[in-house]
Amino acid sequence: MIWILGATGRTGREIARQVAARGGTPVLVGRSAERLRKAAADLGLGDAEVVATADLAAAIAERRPAVVVNTIGGYAETAVPFARACLPGGHYVDLANDLVAMPRLLALDDEARAAGTTLVTGAGFGVLATEAVVAHLCADRSVPREVRVDALPSVASEGGQLGEALARSIVSGLTTGGRRFEDGRMVPARIAADPRTHALPDGQTATSASGPTGELLAAQLASGAPYVVATSGLLPASPIVRAVLPVLGAALRVPPLGRFAVRRLAATELKPYPRPREHSWGHAVVTWPDGTTREAWLRTGDAMDFTTGAAAEVAVRLARGEGRRGAFTPACALGPEVAEAAGGTFVD
Ligand SMILES: NC(=O)c1ccc[n+]([C@@H]2O[C@H](COP(=O)([O-])OP(=O)(O)OC[C@H]3O[C@@H](n4cnc5c(N)ncnc54)[C@H](OP(=O)(O)O)[C@@H]3O)[C@@H](O)[C@H]2O)c1
Repeated sequence: MIWILGATGRTGREIARQVAARGGTPVLVGRSAERLRKAAADLGLGDAEVVATADLAAAIAERRPAVVVNTIGGYAETAVPFARACLPGGHYVDLANDLVAMPRLLALDDEARAAGTTLVTGAGFGVLATEAVVAHLCADRSVPREVRVDALPSVASEGGQLGEALARSIVSGLTTGGRRFEDGRMVPARIAADPRTHALPDGQTATSASGPTGELLAAQLASGAPYVVATSGLLPASPIVRAVLPVLGAALRVPPLGRFAVRRLAATELKPYPRPREHSWGHAVVTWPDGTTREAWLRTGDAMDFTTGAAAEVAVRLARGEGRRGAFTPACALGPEVAEAAGGTFVD
């Protein structure tokens, strides 16, 4: 049984469908039985079990599913209690991509290993699409000196409200401020530094700038490199917006302002639009102490499809008993090939 927490949501619904398509048994979990049954019927999963509860951690501890996929978001608060409820022996997957939530889950490594459990954080385009390229480039090589990763998602929108989960992720990123690794330590940096325009392998272009994303931590863990920078296409490369972001981030650190921003952002109505580029790209440039440099890309279609494919693939593999025991990012738990199974192709 693979429990999908938040199965009425954007990613939760599609992960449930993809788990079933991969031969797994999804259980749709949330707070409203009626909404969950409707989601199951809409997905053509009318026979799937639904679990509606106000206390998810208690339900996990009591029913002991093989794998829990957490798509509720707010990972800084939700990941650790739900992951602990899976111990011993049950596995846990989430889609976090921020520097508050991910270290908290990774800190459960000893506990998870002792309990025979695998905890995976970052099972989405954000983290896996770049981490997998780093692991691909560094396989069977010595520790590099420098790594730069660039996450360049292209996503279509169905329209509708932005939603609280995504709003909380955006505000969390802004309030953390920029980060980079220098001399093996994560240090503060200006948010939206390192702006860059990329000539993509398919002839198109994309821009990115650095931010406090989980991709930074994952690239450091996958390589061991002392100097790491991570940029994202979701951060603005325009000079005016880049100038405003540090001020906005400082304001949102005041708790009532942060909560207000989450509410307003969550209620923002998005217009439907097609994905801006055919492909999404994860990119890494790795440099070794002798000056050798290697570069590669991971090409996927819509980044949201890759995200749901990644979470479903990781969950199904963990349900089959694959993966190292402990707390990891996806490529560290299962190898970079999990990104190919999720719909990505390496381009060297
Ligand atoms: N790493 C990546 O690349 C990546 C990509 C996409 C998304 N994400 C992350 O994945 C998370 C989910 O995104 P999404 O777009 O699927 O969000 P969403 O559409 O807002 O769905 C959230 C789901 O969680 C449920 N939920 C929210 N708060 C809850 C609570 N307190 N208790 C129980 N259920 C609750 C909602 O259920 P109701 O129906 O009851 O409201 C809904 O089913 C976000 O944190 C997002 O940032 C990461």
